[in-house]
Amino acid sequence: MTHDVYTVPIRTEPAYDVLVGHGLLEECGMRIRAVASDCRVMIVSDDAVYALYGEKVTRSLEDAGFRTDAYVFPHGEASKSTERLIDLINTLAESGLTRTDLVLALGGGVTGDLAGLAASLYLRGVRLIQIPTTLLAAVDSSVGGKTAVNLPSGKNLCGSFYQPSLVICDCDVFGTLADSVFSDGMAETVKYAVLKDPALFGAMEAFERGGDISGIVAACVQMKNDYIVHDVQDHGERQFLNLGHTPAHAIEKTSGFTVSHGHAVAAGMMIMARAAEKMGISEERFSERLGALLARWDLPLDAPYSAQVLAQAAGADKKRRGSSITLVMPLAIGHCVLYPVQIGQLESVFEAGTR
Ligand code: GLY
Repeated sequence: MTHDVYTVPIRTEPAYDVLVGHGLLEECGMRIRAVASDCRVMIVSDDAVYALYGEKVTRSLEDAGFRTDAYVFPHGEASKSTERLIDLINTLAESGLTRTDLVLALGGGVTGDLAGLAASLYLRGVRLIQIPTTLLAAVDSSVGGKTAVNLPSGKNLCGSFYQPSLVICDCDVFGTLADSVFSDGMAETVKYAVLKDPALFGAMEAFERGGDISGIVAACVQMKNDYIVHDVQDHGERQFLNLGHTPAHAIEKTSGFTVSHGHAVAAGMMIMARAAEKMGISEERFSERLGALLARWDLPLDAPYSAQVLAQAAGADKKRRGSSITLVMPLAIGHCVLYPVQIGQLESVFEAGTR
């Protein structure tokens, strides 16, 4: 069966394309030749992803004339550390990678963030290719240039904005994801539909796992472009992408990161949807329809913590600006507004959003 390949142009400075389709891992070398040729490629991947796809990607790159090396690290959030970052940068230096060579991130969010930050720092910047292998990385973290590692005092506190030269998303790889990891990606995908696309929300209500998700992924990436193109540094419109994320980050942090990002985002969106309903500013029964879709993917509809605990954790969020923080309030499927509140008001908003 043949499928279309969607090309979504990301119109940041520098601009680049996101390719979304099927069978793209086999063709990645040829696709990368459109942005770089005759150079070395350092493949950065975790041990689990490299075992699945390392050989296929290496073969495709070498068939297209690239010389390859690989940096393979232990999978898991613990690898998003300054120690791992320095080890990777040292490896790039020891292997003699030059400014005309490439770093290729093959994996999920941890890999993209780690490899992206290393690529932005090494030699003050070498070109980066992102090949996301989770749905969450495909619709969110591989696009838009946010890179980071964690510090002992918080998640993603050490990072940069650094756009890749190309993103290649092969939807075939989602077939090997555990259900809960696929659901993490569905939570971020639902977020885009709630932000501004009722038709996409309808498409997601009809979608079953195993179906062709490439059109949905391409629609999300197109929307991400629209939110970041005039606000790469996250001071304005890009903040819409944080729908549900203030309570979500508080849930992740309070759980010691045992609650995954997508699961926390689902609960966070529900908290904001119910809060908007209680304030009387959203469409009737909106949270019910949102909850029904999230529940189909076994995503949580509530936080396992009190509003007080969440507000305390959210008060230390890196998105805080002085004494205020900007929440995203969903009013209907496809319609949200930015809603700045004082840190002291967070508890009452979360309280309103608790069942
Ligand atoms: N993950 C949200 C953003 O890229 O801004």
